[in-house]
Amino acid sequence: MKRILVTAELPGAGFRKILSEGGFEFKILSNEERLSMRKAVVDFQPHGIVTLLSDAVDSALIDSIPDLEVVSNYAAGYNNIDTAHCRAKGISVTNTPDVLTDATADIAMMLILMASRRASESERFTRAGLFNGWKPDLFLGKSLAGKTLGILGLGRIGYATAFRAKAFGMEIIYWSDRKAPENIENSIKARFCGFDELIKSSDVISLHLPYIPALHHLIGKKELSEMKKDVVIVNTARGQLIDEDALASALAQKRVFAAGFDVYEREPLINEKLYGLENAVLLPHIGSATEETRAEMAVMALSDCIAVLNGKKPLNKVN
Ligand code: DGY
Repeated sequence: MKRILVTAELPGAGFRKILSEGGFEFKILSNEERLSMRKAVVDFQPHGIVTLLSDAVDSALIDSIPDLEVVSNYAAGYNNIDTAHCRAKGISVTNTPDVLTDATADIAMMLILMASRRASESERFTRAGLFNGWKPDLFLGKSLAGKTLGILGLGRIGYATAFRAKAFGMEIIYWSDRKAPENIENSIKARFCGFDELIKSSDVISLHLPYIPALHHLIGKKELSEMKKDVVIVNTARGQLIDEDALASALAQKRVFAAGFDVYEREPLINEKLYGLENAVLLPHIGSATEETRAEMAVMALSDCIAVLNGKKPLNKVN
């Protein structure tokens, strides 16, 4: 009997049902077992493994599971997996796109609003009992209507974020690996532009690119210095796309008006400087965190894992 290992308990009843009826021997790691995830995986010797985005599936781990056929990542991003090594060994890698598009775009839009309108800062102020009456200049933020939103990466989540921003009256420009089809561009009146133009002319910048080493610190000190003063930056993609230290300095100097973080460069570690900055909105990587979405992701990841083990084509193969 083939074996499936899931590196954490996942939400939703569907996932448990599929797992127990699938005809596989399976193991779900408890929180305690997760602490020594690599040992648990090697001891169980799975044919299929369902992993979290925080699990490093590197060549050493892959090589220690000789019968491994598939790694199904419980996330859209899969930069935690050595996909090239998997490909070389004929191991399939799958992910969970689409089902998390709306949830993640909601968080991106929420961060754009929170950062632009100083929501965290003013909420902290209110909770501290400091609100003693309406004032003309109390927590002035930035309007969105008529402003330019620069989308870095017009994939599914980038598009869904732009679509939302359009309803707030924003103009959309984007930079991506390729120009989107005209019907996509027309539906949000988006204009394809160069990276430099986007950096220099956006009022708000939202990142929606996958992390690959070539994009490490895509936004660094130089890019930050070229942005409009008072730009708002939001990252729901991957932390390593931004030089967090450089952004913290720009936020401290108020060159950047505010930034919304859902992801961090050295996750789960957060640059200490950010904690002290009122203009940094800090979320704990909850882009896809709705009950519905996380349950759908679980079913999707497991179904693709089972498909590969049954010799079928998975829905979302990335390698
Ligand atoms: C993913 O699935 O890659 C996202 O980071 C979830 O928020």
